[in-house]
Amino acid sequence: MEKAVVVGAGAMGHGIAQLLAMAGFETWLVDVKEEILDKALNQVRWSLGKLVEKGRVREEEAKKVLERMKTTVNLEDAVRDAKVVVEAVPENLELKKQVFGRLGKATQPNTLLATNTSSLSITEISKAVEKPERVVGMHFFNPPVLMPLVEVVKGEYTSDEVAGFAMDLARRMGKTPILVRKDVRGFIVNRILISMFTEVCLAVCRGEATIEVVDAAVKYKAGLPMGAFELADYIGLDVAYNISKVMEEAYGERAKVCPELEKLVKEGKLGQKTGKGFYDWSVGYPRIPFKLADKYDVWRIYVVSVNEASWLLKEDVATPQDIDTAIKLGTSWVQGPCELGDELGLDLVLSRLRELHMKYKEEIYKPCPLLEEYVGRGWLGRKTKRGFYIYE
Ligand code: CAA
Repeated sequence: MEKAVVVGAGAMGHGIAQLLAMAGFETWLVDVKEEILDKALNQVRWSLGKLVEKGRVREEEAKKVLERMKTTVNLEDAVRDAKVVVEAVPENLELKKQVFGRLGKATQPNTLLATNTSSLSITEISKAVEKPERVVGMHFFNPPVLMPLVEVVKGEYTSDEVAGFAMDLARRMGKTPILVRKDVRGFIVNRILISMFTEVCLAVCRGEATIEVVDAAVKYKAGLPMGAFELADYIGLDVAYNISKVMEEAYGERAKVCPELEKLVKEGKLGQKTGKGFYDWSVGYPRIPFKLADKYDVWRIYVVSVNEASWLLKEDVATPQDIDTAIKLGTSWVQGPCELGDELGLDLVLSRLRELHMKYKEEIYKPCPLLEEYVGRGWLGRKTKRGFYIYE
């Protein structure tokens, strides 16, 4: 049986390990403490139980998946004869480089080394390994067992063969891979999510809306599966904060860290996993009142996400199709930002951005030059049969 190893047994790590075991690999989960590994295996048992309950996996298969899963605190022993290693330790560049330094030495020269970083530079991480061409980004989405997307990210040194292997591996794990053409911070999905989060944080910080008001509008008017603050709590505020810091460093004022998020993280309130975050999770999922949905204008999140998609296109990170697919599969939005922009009308999106920029002087609303160019050419979306897409 081929061997796979996942380093880091947190929310993402144990889910990725479960997927590898479900894909037929003998899968070793590595972390620094036995208690963490025990907890992770319990979560895998729960998840497999749910999949059996829903008829997605047969009971005998679930048993075999568990038999294929092993745990250890000894990284070097685990990875020695592995075909694939996926790293899923916390989002800290120095820590990831340390782990990759050890992986580079302990693995066979042709072992695929993937990082599940959500925002850091694949190129930087790969520099810790003697043969950086075998390092690739494989970014899974929370919860990895249910979310169908993997962003496969090539660093500067990643070989085409390794990127192709990562794409195949993601497919073998039952996922749809999207190749991210450039190693930009936040890749595709987190660029769009952070633009939305920056806007809603500004709205709350300016006192224009409460957290519940925003989330009610996001859920019931925009039709997203979770409110923006609810989602941040769900993925973990420490995770959201680490991503935000990387994004702020890369994009400056356009991706300012939300002060409320920073405050909660400093207080140890990390969302669902600690019982408190933007919401109180000790009583279960937040109850977001439907009646508040009209008190925040969801066009504001629409226009910032269309604007961010324009930046991604301008930087040649992905095609409109790939941006839309990534957002739909990675976050369960019904429409991607390019489809949405074309439907709303790019001229209306642009004029709303200009209005917001004039009023608030915030970078997040500054229109991307590509959007201005499209509108200048009369490419306004569906209504002119040309926008991000061409319509027959
Ligand atoms: N394994 C198996 N089953 C699971 C599970 C898991 N890991 N997690 C949840 N389930 C189960 C639930 O318990 C539930 O079972 P019951 O019906 O018995 O209660 C079932 O799956 C479906 O859950 P829901 O009824 O809540 O169904 P849903 O339709 O709301 O789906 C969801 C849940 C898929 C999480 C959905 O709410 C969703 O898509 N939310 C958005 C998530 C998202 O955006 N993720 C990406 C975040 S960004 C990120 O991850 C990147 C990063 O870098 C941080």
